Amino acid sequence: MARKWLGLLTLVAAAACGGSGGDGDAPANGQELYEQPHSDGNTFACASCHALSEPAGDGFRRPGHPIGDATRRPTYKNGQLTSFLDAVNVCRTEWMAADAWASGDASFTALQSYLDARATEPEAPALSFEVVQPPADLMGGDPMAGQTFFNGACAVCHGKDALGTERAPRLVGDLLTEELVGLRVRTSGLPNSTAYQGLTGGRMPFWAADRISDTELLDVVAFVLGNAPPIVDPTGAGGTGGGGGTGGGGGMGAAPSNCGSTHPKVGQTATLATRAHMVSGTATMVDDCTIEITSFNFDGNGINVQFYGAIGGDYRNGFSMSGDIRRSEGYSNETIRVDIPTGLSLDDLDGISVWCVPARASFGDGSFQ
Ligand code: HEC
Ligand code: HEC
Repeated sequence: MARKWLGLLTLVAAAACGGSGGDGDAPANGQELYEQPHSDGNTFACASCHALSEPAGDGFRRPGHPIGDATRRPTYKNGQLTSFLDAVNVCRTEWMAADAWASGDASFTALQSYLDARATEPEAPALSFEVVQPPADLMGGDPMAGQTFFNGACAVCHGKDALGTERAPRLVGDLLTEELVGLRVRTSGLPNSTAYQGLTGGRMPFWAADRISDTELLDVVAFVLGNAPPIVDPTGAGGTGGGGGTGGGGGMGAAPSNCGSTHPKVGQTATLATRAHMVSGTATMVDDCTIEITSFNFDGNGINVQFYGAIGGDYRNGFSMSGDIRRSEGYSNETIRVDIPTGLSLDDLDGISVWCVPARASFGDGSFQ
């Protein structure tokens, strides 16, 4: 069992990180097909976007409506489709990056039976929903209310407090604008979708008018924009430099709260050699605890991609210096700063990588000199 799961995870990782990936043998188990990502798709599962019924067992409000009674509906996608298979295939192809199922497909039949067994009435009403534009003025929301909303909804993919999961990146306020957050929430999805009009790009699903109110959206915008990268709080200034890390001797002497530029490596640079996803750039050790990456390019894809530091190119045993840096619009000649974690110092790395954590693959790396 454990082996099987490992195999599935590796396959998903390889497909998303490496860009290629075969058509796996999907297990014809309806519940798994609802709850888990599909072997030929991305990291989304039906359950990432649809509860079976609401309130959901885990309490999350998801972007899509519940689908526990969906097999009993007369029409789908605002009346555009009459076949349940076609409705599911839109989600498979447009959200999950998987191939459409044929009607006799064992996986489709298994999922359909699983959902059908959840329905309590012989007939269920058709849904209607509206894709709407974000309000022109997105300012003035309440960040505390936004955090509560976020952790009960968006967190299903972005993780608690937007720290990121294998389904969606960490959200860092100062890399975002309120327009971008508003557009992502309201109109994310394929612009040339066969089922939805007015979408503006992105792998994230849109939230229709009845899934999040404009007031909730303003609150969530206020929370996300104020969401700074977690700053390692050095406990006891002038003390031991905090727990957690086991760094080389040199850095432990430098007070982590007050970063100087005394380390002999300050000023060293590394050129990121491109390995995948168009990564390039130059990393510079700008002070004792900060690395700045300039002219940074990256197409923004993969799963859980982070800046890693290591000695001798051994990034498998390296350490993270950022959260997940993926984003749909990628990076074009940008400047980014990452921090050496508390307890570590410039002695603990002689190279930097744009590292796809689950696939253990470097998208681009270089040695400092
Ligand atoms: C990334 C998000 C996402 C994933 C993953 C996803 N869906 Fe959807 N799905 C949506 C959105 C958004 C809609 C349109 C809004 C709505 O109907 O709730 C939708 C609509 C549907 C509908 C039509 C509902 C109706 O009555 O109009 C069905 C049925 C459906 N999805 C089933 C599935 C199944 C089954 C899976 C897994 C194989 C799945 N979806 C995966 C986001 C997703
Ligand atoms: C079904 C999974 C899912 C849910 C639920 C979800 N997101 Fe996302 N989100 C993603 C993915 C995947 C991306 C990265 C790809 C993209 O930008 O479309 C993303 C990207 C974003 C971005 C752009 C990040 C960047 O750096 O460009 C913002 C902002 C965002 N999401 C906000 C939210 C908010 C707010 C909510 C809740 C209302 C939410 N998301 C719910 C999957 C999700």
